[in-house]
Amino acid sequence: MTRAQVGIDLGGTAVKSGRVSAAGAILEERSDDPGFARGPQHVLDTLARIWRELGGGDALGIGVPGLLERERGWLIASPNLPGFVELDVRGELARRTGLDPRRVVVENDANAAAVGELWLGAGRGTRDMLVVTLGTGIGGGFILDGKLYAGEGLAGEIGHVVVDPLGPLCGCGKRGCVETLASATAARRRALAANLPASAPGDLVLLAQRAREGCAPERELMHDIGRDLGRALGTVVCLLDVRTFVFGGGFSGALDALEPGLRVGIEERSYGARSPVVKLLPAELGASAGWIGAA
Ligand code: BGC
Repeated sequence: MTRAQVGIDLGGTAVKSGRVSAAGAILEERSDDPGFARGPQHVLDTLARIWRELGGGDALGIGVPGLLERERGWLIASPNLPGFVELDVRGELARRTGLDPRRVVVENDANAAAVGELWLGAGRGTRDMLVVTLGTGIGGGFILDGKLYAGEGLAGEIGHVVVDPLGPLCGCGKRGCVETLASATAARRRALAANLPASAPGDLVLLAQRAREGCAPERELMHDIGRDLGRALGTVVCLLDVRTFVFGGGFSGALDALEPGLRVGIEERSYGARSPVVKLLPAELGASAGWIGAA
């Protein structure tokens, strides 16, 4: 059997990592503070230290949030990590770990999550799907024909599909990207604007709960957020006939509350009453999908 591999997922708030065997057994898992405030070089040091503390090995797979040049292993820009621009993630990690750069695989965080869900999660046996991560930002990873489809490094950036050209300013510089309307961050902002409590951790869970129970303002908010996200997904359905969407990330616990709006949005932007054939599934690996896929 191949040795167990270390995977790391650099998220907007935490670094999730672990070691998984070739057969898919999770041997170790941890979560660390990336220390973003101390800048990219410090974060890279932290990532290399985590890899060593997990036992190192002969390879490292890492998921990073943002636009990549996959061939070179560079992070070009990261809408939610200011300062992470034009960063040679592969080279810097190879230098810090002593690994051959060819053994350092740098992938987009949502692409890594898609591979994780395909391997051990909700996407097992699915040929075509989009894994959507709803967290600080919104990420997407395509599995097409049973394999990750990443293009040159920008494919699946569902979070930056513009659904409202006059909407809020996005970290990417455009306005009204779906990320500014339906990420966990956006949901909090929209809830506060509707005078609903949404500043403490757990408030989004409460909002979804109240929406489920039928409270009108919460239900309306979840419907609007779902519809905005659904509009972006409808475009995907229309272009690629992808019928399975798997939702991960912190805000995906609200999937059932978002679903009615999601279906309206999908219907609005796709062609030929496609919503009934579209499956909207919760991710099964939760916050572990990214590091598992990276491994
Ligand atoms: C980035 C994506 C990333 C997502 C989730 C977006 O803003 O553009 O690359 O996958 O956030 O982290």
